[in-house]
Amino acid sequence: MARIIAGVGSSHVPAIGAALDNGKTEEPYWKRVFSGFEKSKQWMAQAKPDVAIVVYNDHASAFSVEMIPTFALGCAAEFPPADEGWGPRPVPVVKGHPALAAHIAQSVILDEFDLTIVNKMEVDHGLTVPMNLLFGQPKDAWPCPVIPLAVNVVMYPPPTGHRCYMLGKALRKAVESYPEDLNVVIFGTGGLSHQISGPRAGLINSKWDKSFLDNLTRDPKKLTRIPHIEYMREAGAEGIEMVMWLIMRGALDDKVDEVYRFYTVPASNTAVGHIILENRRKAAGKSRPAGSGKTTTSKSKTAGKSRQAAARKGAHRIASKGTR
Ligand SMILES: [Fe+2]
Repeated sequence: MARIIAGVGSSHVPAIGAALDNGKTEEPYWKRVFSGFEKSKQWMAQAKPDVAIVVYNDHASAFSVEMIPTFALGCAAEFPPADEGWGPRPVPVVKGHPALAAHIAQSVILDEFDLTIVNKMEVDHGLTVPMNLLFGQPKDAWPCPVIPLAVNVVMYPPPTGHRCYMLGKALRKAVESYPEDLNVVIFGTGGLSHQISGPRAGLINSKWDKSFLDNLTRDPKKLTRIPHIEYMREAGAEGIEMVMWLIMRGALDDKVDEVYRFYTVPASNTAVGHIILENRRKAAGKSRPAGSGKTTTSKSKTAGKSRQAAARKGAHRIASKGTR
Protein backbone atom coordinates (compact mmCIF):
# COMPACT_ATOMS: atom_id res chain seq x y z
CA MET A 1 0.00 0.00 0.00
CA ALA A 2 1.01 3.62 -0.41
CA ARG A 3 1.69 5.72 2.68
CA ILE A 4 2.46 9.30 3.65
CA ILE A 5 5.83 9.33 5.36
CA ALA A 6 6.24 13.04 6.06
CA GLY A 7 4.93 16.54 5.58
CA VAL A 8 6.85 19.62 4.50
CA GLY A 9 5.72 23.17 5.13
CA SER A 10 7.39 25.82 3.02
CA SER A 11 6.89 29.40 1.93
CA HIS A 12 6.64 29.88 -1.82
CA VAL A 13 7.84 33.46 -2.17
CA PRO A 14 8.14 34.31 -5.90
CA ALA A 15 11.28 36.38 -5.31
CA ILE A 16 13.04 33.21 -4.11
CA GLY A 17 12.41 31.71 -7.54
CA ALA A 18 13.70 34.88 -9.21
CA ALA A 19 16.84 34.79 -7.03
CA LEU A 20 17.44 31.18 -8.09
CA ASP A 21 16.80 31.85 -11.75
CA ASN A 22 19.04 34.93 -11.82
CA GLY A 23 22.02 33.43 -9.98
CA LYS A 24 21.64 35.47 -6.78
CA THR A 25 21.70 32.62 -4.26
CA GLU A 26 25.17 33.56 -2.99
CA GLU A 27 24.29 37.21 -2.37
CA PRO A 28 24.18 37.78 1.42
CA TYR A 29 20.49 38.69 1.45
CA TRP A 30 19.50 35.48 -0.33
CA LYS A 31 22.17 33.24 1.14
CA ARG A 32 20.50 33.75 4.53
CA VAL A 33 17.32 32.29 3.05
CA PHE A 34 18.78 29.46 0.97
CA SER A 35 21.14 28.28 3.71
CA GLY A 36 18.09 27.44 5.79
CA PHE A 37 17.08 24.81 3.27
CA GLU A 38 20.42 22.98 2.92
CA LYS A 39 19.56 20.42 5.60
CA SER A 40 16.13 20.06 4.06
CA LYS A 41 17.58 19.11 0.69
CA GLN A 42 19.74 16.49 2.42
CA TRP A 43 16.68 15.16 4.24
CA MET A 44 14.71 14.96 1.00
CA ALA A 45 17.58 13.26 -0.83
CA GLN A 46 17.52 10.56 1.84
CA ALA A 47 13.76 10.30 2.06
CA LYS A 48 13.53 9.75 -1.72
CA PRO A 49 9.74 9.90 -1.95
CA ASP A 50 8.11 8.04 -4.81
CA VAL A 51 5.48 10.77 -5.16
CA ALA A 52 4.98 14.28 -3.78
CA ILE A 53 1.57 15.85 -3.25
CA VAL A 54 2.10 19.62 -3.35
CA VAL A 55 -0.65 21.77 -1.83
CA TYR A 56 -0.29 25.29 -3.15
CA ASN A 57 -2.30 28.14 -4.58
CA ASP A 58 -2.43 29.36 -8.11
CA HIS A 59 -1.68 33.07 -8.55
CA ALA A 60 -3.89 33.81 -11.58
CA SER A 61 -1.70 31.60 -13.78
CA ALA A 62 -3.86 28.54 -14.44
CA PHE A 63 -7.06 30.14 -13.20
CA SER A 64 -8.36 33.70 -13.18
CA VAL A 65 -11.14 35.66 -11.54
CA GLU A 66 -13.40 34.03 -14.11
CA MET A 67 -13.05 30.63 -12.49
CA ILE A 68 -11.55 29.80 -9.10
CA PRO A 69 -12.04 26.26 -7.79
CA THR A 70 -11.78 25.89 -4.03
CA PHE A 71 -9.79 22.64 -4.32
CA ALA A 72 -8.37 21.56 -7.70
CA LEU A 73 -6.52 18.26 -8.08
CA GLY A 74 -4.01 17.92 -10.91
CA CYS A 75 -4.67 14.59 -12.62
CA ALA A 76 -2.65 15.24 -15.80
CA ALA A 77 0.49 13.43 -16.91
CA GLU A 78 2.47 16.66 -16.83
CA PHE A 79 2.24 20.27 -15.71
CA PRO A 80 4.39 22.84 -17.57
CA PRO A 81 5.76 25.87 -15.69
CA ALA A 82 3.49 28.88 -16.19
CA ASP A 83 4.48 32.17 -17.77
CA GLU A 84 3.95 34.61 -14.90
CA GLY A 85 4.80 37.68 -16.94
CA TRP A 86 8.49 37.23 -17.69
CA GLY A 87 8.43 33.82 -19.39
CA PRO A 88 8.13 30.38 -17.81
CA ARG A 89 10.65 29.67 -15.05
CA PRO A 90 13.64 27.62 -16.26
CA VAL A 91 12.59 24.54 -14.31
CA PRO A 92 11.69 21.07 -15.58
CA VAL A 93 8.15 20.23 -16.57
CA VAL A 94 6.45 18.70 -13.52
CA LYS A 95 5.49 15.09 -14.24
CA GLY A 96 2.26 13.96 -12.61
CA HIS A 97 1.05 10.62 -11.35
CA PRO A 98 -2.31 10.25 -13.14
CA ALA A 99 -3.12 6.83 -11.67
CA LEU A 100 -2.67 7.88 -8.04
CA ALA A 101 -4.31 11.25 -8.71
CA ALA A 102 -7.38 9.55 -10.21
CA HIS A 103 -7.51 7.22 -7.22
CA ILE A 104 -7.29 10.19 -4.83
CA ALA A 105 -10.05 12.00 -6.75
CA GLN A 106 -12.34 9.00 -6.48
CA SER A 107 -11.63 8.35 -2.81
CA VAL A 108 -11.80 11.97 -1.67
CA ILE A 109 -14.87 12.92 -3.72
CA LEU A 110 -16.74 9.84 -2.51
CA ASP A 111 -15.68 10.99 0.97
CA GLU A 112 -17.72 14.14 0.21
CA PHE A 113 -14.90 16.57 -0.57
CA ASP A 114 -15.89 18.00 -3.95
CA LEU A 115 -12.53 18.40 -5.67
CA THR A 116 -12.29 19.91 -9.14
CA ILE A 117 -10.52 17.46 -11.44
CA VAL A 118 -7.97 19.24 -13.62
CA ASN A 119 -6.58 17.43 -16.64
CA LYS A 120 -4.59 20.32 -18.07
CA MET A 121 -2.85 22.94 -15.96
CA GLU A 122 0.26 25.05 -15.82
CA VAL A 123 1.90 25.50 -12.43
CA ASP A 124 3.38 28.73 -11.10
CA HIS A 125 5.86 29.73 -8.40
CA GLY A 126 3.44 28.55 -5.71
CA LEU A 127 4.43 24.99 -6.64
CA THR A 128 7.83 25.32 -8.28
CA VAL A 129 9.57 27.43 -5.60
CA PRO A 130 9.04 24.90 -2.77
CA MET A 131 10.14 22.19 -5.22
CA ASN A 132 13.40 24.08 -5.76
CA LEU A 133 13.92 24.61 -2.06
CA LEU A 134 13.58 20.91 -1.27
CA PHE A 135 14.82 19.26 -4.48
CA GLY A 136 17.34 21.83 -5.73
CA GLN A 137 17.55 22.90 -9.35
CA PRO A 138 17.51 19.80 -11.56
CA LYS A 139 18.12 20.58 -15.23
CA ASP A 140 16.13 17.86 -16.93
CA ALA A 141 13.64 16.31 -14.54
CA TRP A 142 12.33 16.55 -10.99
CA PRO A 143 13.27 13.48 -8.94
CA CYS A 144 9.70 12.25 -8.43
CA PRO A 145 6.20 12.65 -9.86
CA VAL A 146 4.06 15.37 -8.33
CA ILE A 147 0.33 15.65 -7.76
CA PRO A 148 -0.60 19.33 -7.50
CA LEU A 149 -3.50 20.34 -5.27
CA ALA A 150 -4.43 23.96 -5.84
CA VAL A 151 -6.43 25.74 -3.12
CA ASN A 152 -8.31 29.01 -3.44
CA VAL A 153 -6.78 31.51 -1.05
CA VAL A 154 -6.96 34.46 -3.43
CA MET A 155 -10.67 35.26 -3.52
CA TYR A 156 -13.05 35.32 -0.56
CA PRO A 157 -14.17 32.93 0.77
CA PRO A 158 -11.22 30.55 1.02
CA PRO A 159 -11.83 27.23 2.77
CA THR A 160 -11.63 27.20 6.56
CA GLY A 161 -8.63 25.80 8.36
CA HIS A 162 -10.82 23.00 9.69
CA ARG A 163 -11.99 22.07 6.19
CA CYS A 164 -8.37 21.99 5.04
CA TYR A 165 -7.33 19.82 7.98
CA MET A 166 -10.14 17.36 7.30
CA LEU A 167 -9.24 17.27 3.60
CA GLY A 168 -5.75 16.24 4.68
CA LYS A 169 -7.26 13.31 6.55
CA ALA A 170 -9.26 12.32 3.47
CA LEU A 171 -6.10 12.54 1.35
CA ARG A 172 -4.30 10.23 3.73
CA LYS A 173 -7.13 7.72 3.60
CA ALA A 174 -7.00 7.88 -0.19
CA VAL A 175 -3.25 7.37 -0.34
CA GLU A 176 -3.40 4.45 2.10
CA SER A 177 -6.02 2.69 0.00
CA TYR A 178 -3.82 2.78 -3.11
CA PRO A 179 -2.40 -0.71 -3.62
CA GLU A 180 1.02 0.17 -5.00
CA ASP A 181 3.93 0.35 -2.54
CA LEU A 182 4.70 4.07 -2.63
CA ASN A 183 6.22 6.49 -0.15
CA VAL A 184 4.52 9.87 -0.39
CA VAL A 185 5.60 13.25 0.97
CA ILE A 186 2.98 15.98 1.20
CA PHE A 187 3.82 19.68 0.97
CA GLY A 188 1.82 22.55 2.46
CA THR A 189 3.02 25.82 0.98
CA GLY A 190 2.50 29.57 1.27
CA GLY A 191 2.86 32.26 3.90
CA LEU A 192 3.90 32.87 6.46
CA SER A 193 2.73 36.33 7.56
CA HIS A 194 2.69 38.87 4.77
CA GLN A 195 0.60 41.55 3.18
CA ILE A 196 1.45 42.83 -0.26
CA SER A 197 -0.83 45.85 -0.61
CA GLY A 198 -2.79 48.48 1.28
CA PRO A 199 -1.85 50.53 4.35
CA ARG A 200 -0.45 47.47 6.14
CA ALA A 201 1.74 46.34 3.19
CA GLY A 202 4.92 44.76 4.53
CA LEU A 203 3.27 43.44 7.69
CA ILE A 204 5.19 40.57 9.29
CA ASN A 205 4.19 39.05 12.64
CA SER A 206 6.98 36.73 13.74
CA LYS A 207 5.45 36.01 17.14
CA TRP A 208 2.23 34.79 15.56
CA ASP A 209 4.12 32.81 12.88
CA LYS A 210 6.23 30.99 15.46
CA SER A 211 3.20 30.17 17.55
CA PHE A 212 1.55 28.75 14.41
CA LEU A 213 4.60 26.56 13.76
CA ASP A 214 4.68 25.40 17.40
CA ASN A 215 1.04 24.39 17.25
CA LEU A 216 1.41 22.83 13.83
CA THR A 217 3.61 20.23 15.48
CA ARG A 218 1.98 19.93 18.89
CA ASP A 219 -1.66 20.97 18.67
CA PRO A 220 -2.87 21.36 15.07
CA LYS A 221 -6.52 21.07 16.12
CA LYS A 222 -6.11 24.40 17.91
CA LEU A 223 -5.08 25.93 14.58
CA THR A 224 -8.20 24.58 12.89
CA ARG A 225 -10.28 26.90 15.09
CA ILE A 226 -8.57 30.08 13.86
CA PRO A 227 -11.13 32.15 11.90
CA HIS A 228 -10.22 33.91 8.66
CA ILE A 229 -10.44 37.31 10.34
CA GLU A 230 -7.64 36.33 12.74
CA TYR A 231 -5.34 35.33 9.87
CA MET A 232 -6.11 38.69 8.24
CA ARG A 233 -5.55 40.69 11.43
CA GLU A 234 -2.47 38.86 12.73
CA ALA A 235 -0.76 37.53 9.60
CA GLY A 236 -1.86 40.00 6.94
CA ALA A 237 -4.20 39.60 3.99
CA GLU A 238 -1.99 37.04 2.27
CA GLY A 239 -1.29 35.19 5.53
CA ILE A 240 -4.47 33.23 4.81
CA GLU A 241 -2.21 31.02 2.65
CA MET A 242 -1.30 29.31 5.91
CA VAL A 243 -4.54 27.31 5.87
CA MET A 244 -2.84 25.20 3.17
CA TRP A 245 -0.34 23.98 5.75
CA LEU A 246 -3.28 22.44 7.61
CA ILE A 247 -4.03 20.14 4.67
CA MET A 248 -0.48 18.82 4.97
CA ARG A 249 -0.81 18.51 8.74
CA GLY A 250 -4.16 16.73 8.53
CA ALA A 251 -2.56 14.06 6.36
CA LEU A 252 -0.08 13.16 9.12
CA ASP A 253 -0.31 11.29 12.41
CA ASP A 254 -1.76 13.15 15.40
CA LYS A 255 1.67 12.97 17.00
CA VAL A 256 4.59 13.68 14.70
CA ASP A 257 8.31 14.27 14.98
CA GLU A 258 9.46 17.74 14.04
CA VAL A 259 12.82 17.01 12.48
CA TYR A 260 13.61 20.46 11.17
CA ARG A 261 12.43 24.04 11.31
CA PHE A 262 13.64 27.26 9.75
CA TYR A 263 12.27 30.78 10.05
CA THR A 264 13.73 34.01 8.75
CA VAL A 265 12.54 37.51 7.85
CA PRO A 266 12.27 39.02 5.45
CA ALA A 267 12.39 37.54 1.96
CA SER A 268 10.91 40.10 -0.34
CA ASN A 269 8.12 41.38 1.96
CA THR A 270 7.36 38.00 3.47
CA ALA A 271 8.23 35.91 6.49
CA VAL A 272 9.81 32.66 5.35
CA GLY A 273 8.77 29.59 7.30
CA HIS A 274 9.71 25.98 6.81
CA ILE A 275 9.12 22.79 8.76
CA ILE A 276 9.58 19.05 8.24
CA LEU A 277 7.30 16.70 10.17
CA GLU A 278 7.70 12.93 10.07
CA ASN A 279 5.04 10.36 10.77
CA ARG A 280 5.89 8.06 13.65
CA ARG A 281 3.82 5.16 12.44
CA LYS A 282 6.00 2.73 10.57
CA ALA A 283 4.54 0.57 7.87
CA ALA A 284 6.03 -2.70 6.71
CA GLY A 285 8.07 -3.08 3.59
CA LYS A 286 9.27 -0.01 1.84
CA SER A 287 8.92 2.61 4.57
CA ARG A 288 12.00 4.38 5.88
CA PRO A 289 12.83 5.25 9.46
CA ALA A 290 12.43 8.77 10.70
CA GLY A 291 15.42 11.01 10.20
CA SER A 292 17.34 8.68 7.94
CA GLY A 293 15.27 7.99 4.85
CA LYS A 294 16.64 4.44 4.67
CA THR A 295 14.80 1.14 4.69
CA THR A 296 13.43 0.04 8.07
CA THR A 297 14.34 -3.35 9.48
CA SER A 298 13.54 -4.68 12.93
CA LYS A 299 17.25 -4.56 13.78
CA SER A 300 17.49 -0.91 12.88
CA LYS A 301 14.57 0.32 14.99
CA THR A 302 16.73 1.33 17.94
CA ALA A 303 19.22 3.04 15.68
CA GLY A 304 16.31 4.75 13.97
CA LYS A 305 15.09 6.14 17.29
CA SER A 306 18.58 7.42 18.05
CA ARG A 307 18.77 9.12 14.69
CA GLN A 308 15.35 10.61 15.33
CA ALA A 309 16.49 12.06 18.64
CA ALA A 310 19.65 13.37 17.03
CA ALA A 311 17.64 15.00 14.26
CA ARG A 312 15.42 16.70 16.82
CA LYS A 313 18.46 17.92 18.73
CA GLY A 314 19.92 19.20 15.47
CA ALA A 315 16.72 21.07 14.68
CA HIS A 316 16.68 22.67 18.10
CA ARG A 317 20.34 23.58 17.86
CA ILE A 318 19.64 25.34 14.58
CA ALA A 319 16.69 27.06 16.20
CA SER A 320 18.84 28.36 19.03
CA LYS A 321 21.08 30.10 16.51
CA GLY A 322 18.31 32.49 15.69
CA THR A 323 16.52 30.90 12.78
CA ARG A 324 13.41 30.19 14.74
FE1 LIG B 1 1.29 32.77 -2.71
